[in-house]
Amino acid sequence: MEQPSLDYLKDVLTRTRREVGKVVIGQAAVVDACLIAIFTGQHALLEGVPGVAKTLLVRTLAHVLGCEFSRIQFTPDLMPADITGTSVFNLQRNEFTLVPGPVFTTFLLADEINRAPAKTQSSLLQAMQERSVTIDRTTYPLDAGFTVFATQNPVEYEGTYPLPEAQKDRFMLKIAVGYPGRDEELQLATRMLSHESLPETMLTGGAVEAVLQPEELARLRTVLDKVTVRPELLSYLVDLIRETRRSESILVGAGPRATQALLLAARATAAMEGRDFVAPDDIKDMAPGVLEHRLVLRPEYEIEGLTLKETIAKILATVPVPV
Ligand SMILES: Nc1ncnc2c1ncn2[C@@H]1O[C@H](COP(=O)(O)OP(=O)(O)OP(=O)(O)O)[C@@H](O)[C@H]1O
Ligand SMILES: [Mg+2]
Repeated sequence: MEQPSLDYLKDVLTRTRREVGKVVIGQAAVVDACLIAIFTGQHALLEGVPGVAKTLLVRTLAHVLGCEFSRIQFTPDLMPADITGTSVFNLQRNEFTLVPGPVFTTFLLADEINRAPAKTQSSLLQAMQERSVTIDRTTYPLDAGFTVFATQNPVEYEGTYPLPEAQKDRFMLKIAVGYPGRDEELQLATRMLSHESLPETMLTGGAVEAVLQPEELARLRTVLDKVTVRPELLSYLVDLIRETRRSESILVGAGPRATQALLLAARATAAMEGRDFVAPDDIKDMAPGVLEHRLVLRPEYEIEGLTLKETIAKILATVPVPV
């Protein structure tokens, strides 16, 4: 198999941004962050208030990248089997057969993940970590490109089950989705006036092209192997993560999964900029998204009004950048 080049990645990236941009107005940084998770084969947590196009974006990305898509709305009464599937007895064949649940897909949108109780959330854990699920003692493999995008509303805490630390750690990045800018909101309103340009019509009506064939994404991911990291930068990255465990304002620091996630994210950033080597800024830029959801502030610092963002900025300012 011929290895794809950085130029090929750049071409896919340009076309993906263009096609996604036909449906999702603005949110360029959010789109790129999602692409980092996708290109590295990792999962992402999307945080944002209702109506900022979280669902629309993931659906559009699946369409554009030629991937299968399914969505689960998490609710307090959602059961693990609603995620994984069940085996039912087939009378004609005298055997159990699998009725696959929504995890048997490529891009899975876990909407409002914090609305389901821990037991149900944790049935996503095995799926995310191992890319397989066990139903009635039989283990079934999931799609090799299985990627979870979970959404979470940052303001509503009532009646929610906050994700346990172990669950959050499995997400490579937390991506904050904010309100559109004024111009973008105006564009959105204008579009409402014409039926042809409504997102639904565009996605189903052929106005948005798929830029990849289903099997091409796996091949594209091998481009990241071309991105090298100098030993000094690797040390820098490890020191950043370790500093989160020493900082006096942090109760729970980042684990080794954060080290892996930051390295992958930095390499993807470099590749997406057409570079075959990681620069210090790739690491710095990705650190907040990789760290924020994994760290827990000490309550006394939180009461004083310190935020995780400030704490991470301080860590970035503390650890010396190699020259
Ligand atoms: N940036 C945007 N570009 C295009 N459409 C947008 C944008 N922001 C909001 N919309 C419109 O708002 C609608 C709501 O988007 P969507 O359902 O994806 O939001 P959501 O973030 O998933 O909300 P919820 O948290 O309630 O599930 C979309 O159907 C779309 O028409
Ligand atoms: Mg939604």
